[in-house]
Amino acid sequence: MIFKLLEFKTFGDERGSLISLESKKNVPFEIKRIYYIFDTKKDVVRGKHAHKNLQQILIAVKGSCKVLVDNKNDKKIFELNNPAQGLYIENNVWREMFDFSSDCVLMVLASEIYIKEDYIFDYEEI
Ligand code: TYD
Repeated sequence: MIFKLLEFKTFGDERGSLISLESKKNVPFEIKRIYYIFDTKKDVVRGKHAHKNLQQILIAVKGSCKVLVDNKNDKKIFELNNPAQGLYIENNVWREMFDFSSDCVLMVLASEIYIKEDYIFDYEEI
């Protein structure tokens, strides 16, 4: 039930920047799924759930958004606005994503394929 901000190494030279993400290296799990959220409308709140068995890393590869994470012992709001940072979220952590900039592309790396039954929509159940 943990969450923490990870810092990724940026390879930069006169051409620009590059970040590489590898399973079991700078990503602490086997990546089975990647999805990204973009064109998010103003005042939208996404997420509002936890997972029974899923680790994720959220990366604002462009723009910014905020993520509230709550494991019932600890509750925090992170602002993601740097492609070199990823918010790691374990299972049983409630999350809400909001305050998306209009250009925000939020990329999510997940340790499992999409399984509807893995979602916990009731905060009291985490
Ligand atoms: P949803 O769970 O509402 O996204 P969020 O957690 O950001 O609020 O997902 C939106 C739709 O996309 C919903 O119909 C389920 C579908 N979906 C998939 O088919 N595969 C996936 O990997 C994800 C994350 C969502």
